[in-house]
Amino acid sequence: MIEKIKDILQSVNSFEIKTADELEKYRLEFLSKKGIITGLFTDFKNVPNEQKKEVGQEINNLKQAAQQKYDTLKDSLEESTTDNSALDLTRSGEPLELGSRHPISLVKNEIITIFSKIGFTVAEGPEIEDDWHVFSALNFPPEHPARDMQDTFFIEKNPDILLRTHTSSVQVRVMENQQPPIRKVFPGRVFRNEAISARAHCIFHQVEGLYVAENVSFADLKQTLMYFAKEMFGEKTQIRLRPSYFPFTEPSAEMDVSCSICGGKGCNVCKYTGWLEILGCGMVDPNVLESCGIDSEKYTGFAFGMGVERIAMLKYQIKDLRLYFENDVRFLRQFRSAY
Ligand code: PHE
Repeated sequence: MIEKIKDILQSVNSFEIKTADELEKYRLEFLSKKGIITGLFTDFKNVPNEQKKEVGQEINNLKQAAQQKYDTLKDSLEESTTDNSALDLTRSGEPLELGSRHPISLVKNEIITIFSKIGFTVAEGPEIEDDWHVFSALNFPPEHPARDMQDTFFIEKNPDILLRTHTSSVQVRVMENQQPPIRKVFPGRVFRNEAISARAHCIFHQVEGLYVAENVSFADLKQTLMYFAKEMFGEKTQIRLRPSYFPFTEPSAEMDVSCSICGGKGCNVCKYTGWLEILGCGMVDPNVLESCGIDSEKYTGFAFGMGVERIAMLKYQIKDLRLYFENDVRFLRQFRSAY
């Protein structure tokens, strides 16, 4: 019996295993229920009692050695397996992370939706513009400071070509191509040559509005903006218009909304004034209508323009403009909304 055990141990040691198939063969031959070593335990019954202790120990040693060889080889085979048998094509793929919309897109879409409910449709124009559409047709005097190199990005080889500094250029393009009634909003990117800081950026977004028809009055402008403010910031929102100046509107105004953070009582967001400035507006200057081929005796209109970043800052209490452009997912992930 002892001899037999030694023989088996030898064949265990000399059994060559290089593949998973060979490993399985080895297991069947020695370790499985019908394997040689299991068979030894049956033979063990017939061993005379005085030898049982010694034989039993030998069988156990053999079994342990055989099992150890199996375990070690199994591990190393699994590690080195790069063949396709380890590739499970039925497994489902890695889950894709769901993105969220950029806060600027959310607010821009919300503004468009609010105006679409009262009949405004969307038009767009080019970001690379010419002097006519950005300045001249909009009644900017030849020496107006807004044309200055400091504010505007000009194309070096041709100072007539520039990056638009406001979306008012789209007003001109639309009015040149369409007779009133016109009721449209123009969302888009604009560019100004400014140092980047928490409060200023050389790229930002505006939504412009234009309504031209017969008998459009300042009261229509005010009602439209009041409707917008309440939709955007809540039913309790108040507005106020302060006289201002733009070359392309007369009269011109800037609109403030009551601070939605403190309800007008005063806080650090509204700098303790209770009001937040959100847009510029006015009645379209007759010179602009005429520049675009629209009869200023027959038609009047209003226009307004707002900064999307500014409204998003108020809505989400974002304190630094630069966050919008860094695309840090920890920032972007926080915005989920119906728009
Ligand atoms: N274009 C102006 C600006 O960028 C805003 C404006 C638009 C003012 C339309 C009046 C009418 O500041």
